[in-house]
Amino acid sequence: MALQSTHLPVTVCDHPLLQHNISILRDANTSHERFRNTVRRVSMFILQEATRDLPLCKAYIETPVSKAETRILSSETPIIITPILRAGLMMSDVAMDLIPSASVYHVGLYRDEETLRPITYYNKLPSTIDYSQARIFLLDPMLATGGSAIAAVDIVSKLGVQLSNIYFVCIISAPEGIQNLTTQYPGIKIYTGAVDERLNDKAYIVPGLGDAGDRMFGTV
Ligand code: PRP
Ligand code: URA
Repeated sequence: MALQSTHLPVTVCDHPLLQHNISILRDANTSHERFRNTVRRVSMFILQEATRDLPLCKAYIETPVSKAETRILSSETPIIITPILRAGLMMSDVAMDLIPSASVYHVGLYRDEETLRPITYYNKLPSTIDYSQARIFLLDPMLATGGSAIAAVDIVSKLGVQLSNIYFVCIISAPEGIQNLTTQYPGIKIYTGAVDERLNDKAYIVPGLGDAGDRMFGTV
């Protein structure tokens, strides 16, 4: 997949099929069902890119024909998928298909629409496991002000995940959110399908796709 670089510290996945599908998400006439299916399709492309540097180790197996040296995911590198509720849920279906051995721990956050500050209402990440080698994929389709992303990174970095092992995977991002997140947490990795123009006065991404959670779940 070709990757587009911007002046921002982010990897923009620029595959034509991904961009085609993001147009479906942006279209206000897209139904909830089509929106959900398209989020899954788009997530596949971005996650393929975000997982590109996962470490492999040698393994020895027998094919029906001969012995073979092959490469598999290293069991010394725990992989954690953390969807940010609600909207990250559809992305986690795809991440679990791609990495069946990963552990999935959910975090629930919503943005208070008055203050725009994130409210954490659920956190299933255990404090009892060793995160020092873990790679963690934080999934949320939207990176707007960056407040929710920063709250999620706060949680996982306090648990001991190294910043360079944190992957924030989103579909649409705003320059303001990327700046805020990387200023607070330089060194984390951000993968996105698009960097849009700006935020509007209600901190919605322009042109964006509206409220991702509402469009996914048919709520208003
Ligand atoms: C949306 C989105 C992000 C957040 C982004 O969630 O899924 O979590 O807003 O905005 P920010 O970068 O300004 O924090 P929302 O608060 O609508 O919650 P929901 O997923 O439950 O609908
Ligand atoms: N959350 C969304 O779902 N969409 C935006 O444009 C901003 C925050």
